[in-house]
Amino acid sequence: MPSDAQVDEAVAAAHSARDEFAATPAHQRAAALDHVSRRLRERTEEIARLISAENGKPLKWARGEVGRAVSVFRFAAEEARRFNGGEAQRLDSDPGGQGRLAITRRFPKGAVLGIAPFNFPLNLCAHKIAPAIAAGVPIILKPAPATPLSALMIGELLAEAGTEAKSELPRGAWSILPVANDRMPALVQDERLPVISFTGSEQVGFSIMDSVPRKHCTLELGGNGAAVVLADYASDEDLDWAATRIATFSNYQGGQSCISVQRVIADASVYDRLVPRIVAAVEAQVTGDPSDDATDVGPLVSEDAAKRVEAWVDEAVEAGARLLTGGKRDGASYAPTVLAEVPADVTLYCEEVFGPVLTLQKVDGEAAAFAAVNDAKYGLQAGVFTHDLQTAFRAHRALEVGGVIIGDVPSYRADQMPYGGVKQSGVGREGVKFAMDDYTYERVMVLTGLSL
Ligand code: SIN
Repeated sequence: MPSDAQVDEAVAAAHSARDEFAATPAHQRAAALDHVSRRLRERTEEIARLISAENGKPLKWARGEVGRAVSVFRFAAEEARRFNGGEAQRLDSDPGGQGRLAITRRFPKGAVLGIAPFNFPLNLCAHKIAPAIAAGVPIILKPAPATPLSALMIGELLAEAGTEAKSELPRGAWSILPVANDRMPALVQDERLPVISFTGSEQVGFSIMDSVPRKHCTLELGGNGAAVVLADYASDEDLDWAATRIATFSNYQGGQSCISVQRVIADASVYDRLVPRIVAAVEAQVTGDPSDDATDVGPLVSEDAAKRVEAWVDEAVEAGARLLTGGKRDGASYAPTVLAEVPADVTLYCEEVFGPVLTLQKVDGEAAAFAAVNDAKYGLQAGVFTHDLQTAFRAHRALEVGGVIIGDVPSYRADQMPYGGVKQSGVGREGVKFAMDDYTYERVMVLTGLSL
């Protein structure tokens, strides 16, 4: 763990590197990002095993995470080459602007403090650091205490890139500081880090934002992702697909994803045919040793996490929810679980479970389904199983979330698209290009006396 002096040295270096890094040629930043992408791909198996050992993620999902990080660095390299070409706007549309032209380019808001969670220890670090490098913005990255090694692997690969002149970045352009959480308030307050990009819990995220109201904060927080199955999604094939996707993505990495499926909201006309399919698909999930290639669902990050999930399910069952499968804990593992008729006042209904637990709700019609999705304090992503394009557009308009996925679960995330929530799910957007915009601001230059 770095000492206080080392932390201060890294922050001072980030602060001092601002101008030099912003002026580093695009090809150099892109080459560093390409290098990391290539090396991640070459070392996929080793890094997947590292992720799995760090947080218990089954190898098959860990490999998928490495593949996504390969893409994030590749996208960032591509964006670095395109970024900040500048946009010209003629101003002579009014007499006062005659002979004038505005050129708008983006400049860094200042060094970034990126704070990443344990659930995607590689890819969510990639989502902080790769856009910063692409935009020429210095970053201090703080990984989760439970999972520092994947973040340090990114550091190792960036350091490798720095050994070649073509991909060298200025000293202070990036630092990875695996510091304990209790040392974070001082870093959060540090004025040399005016931008904070946080992914993690709602409580911590909003407390950071409240503690530094004048800083620019992006918060990627929780969700209780809903998958809606509508009346037109009714063939056997449709329901098999919906059930398989729902079962897989309520349990992937033990449900420890902000966009895992927590709620299924199904139209009454398909509900009775959907439920047994979901239960069967959930029971088909292979639980066990995360290092086994066949395992779908491994342990949660800690025994305490599994105990919390157990307590929430027990509370729901005591309040009248019907347990259809699962509901058992074994150390840090919690069995894939499905519940129906969950009362609206229990914790499981209201909060993000962050575990392999699914609740089922029957509704009458599209409007009731959309209202049920919105009846949540969170608004990250929603999935809508429908074939109808008009319904898709209505869902896009009606659902209070950052992303609507048609024909699939809310858990779909392509790393180049904007990602983030509304309501208690957060503020701002990630996704490589969107994070680059978030780290920078527009500065306009007006040229005068021109013949346009
Ligand atoms: C998250 O848990 O917010 C990240 C989900 C993802 O990147 O797929």
